[in-house]
Amino acid sequence: MKRRQFLQAGAFVGMASAGILSALPVSAADEAFVQPPLPYGLDGLKPFMSEEQMNFHYNKHHAGYYANLKKLVDGKPEAQWSLDDIVIKSEPGPVFNNAAQAWNHAFFWNCLAPVRKEGRPNVQNVQKLFAAIDRDFGGLAQFKEQFVAKATALFGSGWCWLAADKDGKLDILPLSNAGNPLKQGLKPLLVVDVWEHAYYIDYRNERGKFLKTFVEHIDWGFVSKNYG
Ligand SMILES: [Fe+2]
Repeated sequence: MKRRQFLQAGAFVGMASAGILSALPVSAADEAFVQPPLPYGLDGLKPFMSEEQMNFHYNKHHAGYYANLKKLVDGKPEAQWSLDDIVIKSEPGPVFNNAAQAWNHAFFWNCLAPVRKEGRPNVQNVQKLFAAIDRDFGGLAQFKEQFVAKATALFGSGWCWLAADKDGKLDILPLSNAGNPLKQGLKPLLVVDVWEHAYYIDYRNERGKFLKTFVEHIDWGFVSKNYG
């Protein structure tokens, strides 16, 4: 399956027995530097995110990381690696920063779902995940509250993740800059972008308001597939 189809299918992670490295969208090198399409239209998340916000975020910021990465690895061994391998193996620096930003955004788009006509995002086949959320956070409402609080408190730019360890235990990880749980050997399940560019057009400086709306637009089906 091509990387693009993989992303569209929302099947980023989840083949548990294969392990983190091979479960992620390992792809031919020529696909590693191609920005995947959004799983919905630029206006698909209105009113949570406006078309203007999405256009800047996807077509300027996210696209820019792919363009930078391509230039940075041109003629170097990394040009033949998968994006996953670059994220996992690179030392701190520009190559890691741009690769992780490309990876994180592609994952972030898949974490989001338009609110359906019946008034809620995709919540099918999530029993195992929700049982783990009950066990590790005390319930879905408590998880949302803790996730919003930790993401709000993250100083500066970064990403707030829900990740699982090898035993399936869940944790909320606020990581600065281009941080990614793969670096810690953890499985990414859910992420929100808290770089200011993610919300400033629609929410100005109100990160907390953006996050409280974000948790009502999570594609739990995608998160559940990632959990496995
Ligand atoms: Fe972003």
